[in-house]
Amino acid sequence: MFKPKIESSFFAENRRKLASLLKPDSIAVVNSNDIMPTNADGTMRYVPNSDMFYLTGIHQEETVLLLAPSEKDEEHKEILFIRDYNPDLEVWEGKKLSPDDAGKISGIKTVLELSKFQKVLHDSLSKSENVYLNSNEHDRAELVVESREMRFIRYCMREYPLHTYCRLAPLIYSLRVIKTPVEAELLQSACDLTADGFRRLLGFVKPKVTEFEIEAELAHEFIRKGSGFADYEPIIASGENSCFLHYVKNDAVCLDGDILLLDFAAGYSNYNADMTRTIPVNGRFSKRQKQIYNSVLRAMKGTIKEMKPGNSVKDLQLVTRELIAKELVDLKLVKPADVKDIKNKSDYFKKYYPHDVSHFLGLAVHDVGYFEEPMKAGMVLTCEPGIYIREEKLGVRIENDILITKKGNRDLMENVPIEAEEIEELMNK
Ligand code: GLY
Ligand code: MN
Ligand code: MN
Repeated sequence: MFKPKIESSFFAENRRKLASLLKPDSIAVVNSNDIMPTNADGTMRYVPNSDMFYLTGIHQEETVLLLAPSEKDEEHKEILFIRDYNPDLEVWEGKKLSPDDAGKISGIKTVLELSKFQKVLHDSLSKSENVYLNSNEHDRAELVVESREMRFIRYCMREYPLHTYCRLAPLIYSLRVIKTPVEAELLQSACDLTADGFRRLLGFVKPKVTEFEIEAELAHEFIRKGSGFADYEPIIASGENSCFLHYVKNDAVCLDGDILLLDFAAGYSNYNADMTRTIPVNGRFSKRQKQIYNSVLRAMKGTIKEMKPGNSVKDLQLVTRELIAKELVDLKLVKPADVKDIKNKSDYFKKYYPHDVSHFLGLAVHDVGYFEEPMKAGMVLTCEPGIYIREEKLGVRIENDILITKKGNRDLMENVPIEAEEIEELMNK
């Protein structure tokens, strides 16, 4: 999703901030993602590297950014390398970025073809002591496939073993975790698109629709606006499927009386929303469904109150666990003793509330950031408590996206219907 335009000054400012964090006598290199293969000669749709996008706005494979802030010559402080012009490739894939295009998008004055990279790198390395290289350091990343970044790290360390190597990721993450007003607006747009999708579904869902028909409605809503789904598979989970946290088969028929858990969102210019709503397939919550729904909603509202500067995500997790524990006791699903150890969830607790409440959001759906650190203004996080009762085929999760502000927070999804009665009303209009 690259259609909405972000001014090049945004990317230039990100590079300036990053350069200011490097030690003297340093260069930094960032690589784009590979196009991932599937079977035979098939490939996946291209997913840009979030760090590359954040620093350049470039959405094209085989791109390399070289930052050399200690260079005296202004033209050599930032160099962007893009794919060499290839007329044969153009016949198949259409136009790739020209150096001029890439310069306009990124605000970088020196854009060269990738075939020049090794020579320029060699020249830069001959003048610098430290080399900052980038890698995916997300704590939950499972790195089973070697990335272009990793190949480059191996190459660089093999060819230039006497330099001092440093980690670039923590520096970029420290910037990415705080969203600028421009980014907050992009996230708001992603949330607004998501809201449009949800409102459309409220007039569409009824008994006997299949989960994939619901997914198709959303795809139509997002794609016709030049966007698409956020960077995760939509979860359209009716009945018992609502209890499977990452259910993505989306192929069951929604039945009269079933609950329907919808965890889907739109992306906007590579920024992701992440929303969950839980609705009754037939347009009216049963008494039991509404009871559980309101328990989760209370836990959500109680948690959002604590989303403010100073508290960490870890603190928040404990807040939600306390709230959910109280609800589970009131619902007589557990005894007080079963849920008294909030830090270490008992099996009982985990059975009904197996996940935790929040993650950072941005260019990645589970964005970069550290759960132990106090929240700060500009961070965007989800709030997503849930209660899942497998024996009743009843899972409820509700999820909104929250911008931390100096005084507390702003709910980027405050206009998305959330009260049970409002949802019922809209479904029966
Ligand atoms: N949609 C994934 C999540 O809620 O974390
Ligand atoms: Mn989430
Ligand atoms: Mn979600």
